[in-house]
Amino acid sequence: MTLILAHRGYTAAYPENTMKAFTEASNAGADGLELDVQMTKDGELVVIHDEKVDRTTNGTGMVKDFNVKDLRRLDARFNNKTMTKKEPIPLLEEVLEWMSGTNLICNIELKNSIVPYAGMEEKVIALVRDYNLADRIIISSFNHYSIVYSYRVAPEIEIAPLLSEGLYMPWIYAQSIRAKGFHPHWRAAPDEIVKAALESGIEVRPYTVNKDAEMERLFKINCSALITDDPAKAIRIRNKIKTGLI
Ligand code: G3P
Ligand code: CA
Repeated sequence: MTLILAHRGYTAAYPENTMKAFTEASNAGADGLELDVQMTKDGELVVIHDEKVDRTTNGTGMVKDFNVKDLRRLDARFNNKTMTKKEPIPLLEEVLEWMSGTNLICNIELKNSIVPYAGMEEKVIALVRDYNLADRIIISSFNHYSIVYSYRVAPEIEIAPLLSEGLYMPWIYAQSIRAKGFHPHWRAAPDEIVKAALESGIEVRPYTVNKDAEMERLFKINCSALITDDPAKAIRIRNKIKTGLI
């Protein structure tokens, strides 16, 4: 069965990378989450997509220049007008603690391609180990040096390279870095690439799959997982296929 991973949480309806987006993804029936990790000036891992807080909060400036205490005062509701309660930027620890009481899997994306956060891999690994989540976490990044390093430090935690463009035989590349899967942009995941990877025992989890036709295509070829902003829609389509309605 193709798993459904909620991209930055249930982003189609709630502010991205907030506890609300994660808990609502779980309530909607997602199999797992995808989230982005950056690091504060005082070395705390925080869940936010951009290097700057400007787009998703009421603050301005680089995450790396904030102490966690000040960063947590910001409101990450972004442009969501329906939520009355302030949503802080979550700590990675907060998400993992909550997740440990669920059956969800979680794809932690290390956002360290632009700011080379020293020690980020070790800190993520320490938290994953603290919460005994090694078998439910996949560490991914566009920074492939970082995921290879993560694997060296913690071979028990799965890694997956993010691929924004098509690659020649990406399953061979994944095997060469000891990744059990790869996460391509959906345009870089045509049927023949997904099928060849699966036949080689390599998982494929395309992002960010929001169009009905793309979801249907990936479900029908039994792709390992898809990463979507709209887990509720994905579940509806997966159920329709399962019951033969489409
Ligand atoms: O992990 C898949 C996807 O989230 C990568 O791109 O920019 O949404 O973090 P981005
Ligand atoms: Ca991401």
